[in-house]
Amino acid sequence: MSDVRSRFPGLSDGWVRFDGPAGTLPVDTCVDAIADYMRSSAPANVGGVFEASERSGAVVDEARAAVARMVNAQPEQVVFGPSTTNLMFAFTRALARTWEAGDRIVCTQLDHDSNVSPWLQAARDAGAAVEMLEVDPVDGTLDVEPLAKLCADGRVRWVAISGASNLTGHVPDLKRAVEIAKQYGARVLVDGVARVPHLPTDVEALGIDVLSTSPYKWYGPHAGCLIVRNGLLQEIEPYRVRPADYDGPPRWETGTAQIELLAGITAAAEFMLETPIAEEAERETRLLALLQEGLSDISGVTVRGPSVTPDRAPTLVFTVEGHHPDAVAAHLASRRIAVWSGDNYAQELVDAWGLRETGGVVRAGVVRYTTADDVVALLQGVAALTEG
Ligand SMILES: Cc1ncc(COP(=O)(O)O)c(C=O)c1O
Repeated sequence: MSDVRSRFPGLSDGWVRFDGPAGTLPVDTCVDAIADYMRSSAPANVGGVFEASERSGAVVDEARAAVARMVNAQPEQVVFGPSTTNLMFAFTRALARTWEAGDRIVCTQLDHDSNVSPWLQAARDAGAAVEMLEVDPVDGTLDVEPLAKLCADGRVRWVAISGASNLTGHVPDLKRAVEIAKQYGARVLVDGVARVPHLPTDVEALGIDVLSTSPYKWYGPHAGCLIVRNGLLQEIEPYRVRPADYDGPPRWETGTAQIELLAGITAAAEFMLETPIAEEAERETRLLALLQEGLSDISGVTVRGPSVTPDRAPTLVFTVEGHHPDAVAAHLASRRIAVWSGDNYAQELVDAWGLRETGGVVRAGVVRYTTADDVVALLQGVAALTEG
């Protein structure tokens, strides 16, 4: 464990970091890869016939191949952009060009708003409609069976569903969701942003059409990726400049790529591939259980979401009676412990829980560099608040 922590220069200030679900610290090889590229003579735009341009082109190709390996896809399926949200707006806007009045999209209350608002706005512009698959209002879990009824008339074009909640870590039954959607001719986009850092995600085995993931959640730089099923990238016409009449991902990547960040993405993906993700998931789940049990034992603390299960991202949310979530986060920050508070953009879930008026929840996430000592520090911090 100490070995892994030594790979994260950002841990040197001694803060206890539970803010991973909002973004992790970059791993050392990622930082080096970005700096090395920037310091080299390679920086140039891609597509030229001179050496620097070819080297930059190779950086882009390597990044596509590395991300593809993480999720069992092909390099030519990987589209890069500044963030998942940015890509989602571009993708849904392009899809909506073929939607008609009467077409429908299904979104879910479990999702981060970047997998809801882009669909809502694209549907509104096309005269289509969005229906919401509801969560259980108590534990916030999502049953996908009602999809069958929603899709039954064959007018649902896309099902947009979370691969793991960014609040509770809950993983809906994706295989079943895909099965139902396919039965009625709908396509499936899975928001993998909170899932890919923690759980095996195989786009082929899941049979999904599109997966999103953001490298800054898995120790890489700030960027987003969409992994799109073969054929679909070519079938949909993106908003693009006329000369960008390329095949495959570059057709979707408007403007010049952040090539230096792609160098960092490759390094971060290689870090992720160093150890089997299922092995890491076991360690992370153990720490999550420790945290969940410890919090549940503190009087006045309510942990929201499902009980700890292996197939879950290691993230949880809680509230502390009599304390606004922002005040809890500020109290913990005064002890040099980083957590997030509010709705964390999981707007629908916080509303379904009826927690908007009271400021939402406090969120803590376990990542590769989290230790049992970190968990103890967080538990002591929360306990100090309820005792004091
Ligand atoms: C589950 C989930 N989906 C999507 C996003 C949006 O990702 P990005 O910040 O790359 O736009 C986030 C960001 O926190 C997230 O947690």
